[in-house]
Parts: sequence; C-alpha cells; structure tokens
Amino acid sequence: MSESNWTPITRTENIPAHEGRSVQIGGLELAIFNLGDRFVTIENQCPHKGGPLCDGIVSGAEVVCPLHGWRFDLNTGLAVRASLAACVTTFPTRVADGIVLVDAGRGRRIEPEAAVA
Ligand code: FES
Repeated sequence: MSESNWTPITRTENIPAHEGRSVQIGGLELAIFNLGDRFVTIENQCPHKGGPLCDGIVSGAEVVCPLHGWRFDLNTGLAVRASLAACVTTFPTRVADGIVLVDAGRGRRIEPEAAVA
C-alpha cells in the first residue's frame, strides 16, 4: 500500500458548489468537484474522446461530459450506463483548514467488469 501524500490544491471557496476545476499534479490532470457537502476528484480526461470532465455539468454525484454526454459516478468513477463499460480513476480528497487536498498517488480505478454483479 502506498503512503498518503496529500497535495494542497486551493481554498474551498475557489470551487463553487456543483462546479469542477482542473488541476495538474505531477503528470496527472485531475478534475476536482465541489458537491456542496464534500469535494471529490477524478481524472480529467473522459475515456471516450478526451473531453474535459472538469467542465461538465454536475448533477448530484454525477458529472456529464461536455462533449458527448457520457455520465460518470463521481464516487466510483464508473460510467452511469453499465453498457458503456467505461470508468475514470478517482482520487482521495479531503478538506483541512479550508484547503482542498488531493492524494494523487492513491488513485482508485474500478474496472467496469468488476462492477457487474
Ligand atoms: S469525450 Fe466525453 S463523452 Fe465523448
């Protein structure tokens, strides 16, 4: 198991509720979303054709890709329509002293096959 390595990103008020922002950490481009009651982070690039998920519309705990409308569950990273068999990596995210922190070294990816019961 890798060690935690929290990177401070920005103050919470810099990401309005139900919006996303992109951030680069090392070689990764991530999308951080404010869900209103918590922050979540996924990889920014849509697995379909690379759309910037940080610019997608947030609805509940889902984001809609701005290019062609694929939807992703921000908790699991899985495409909402199981028939798409697609996913994005999610990253641990927390808030401390008003700062959003992301651990880019502990990304978690649930392959769609694993989600099918
Ligand atoms: S690039 Fe995201 S749905 Fe096509």
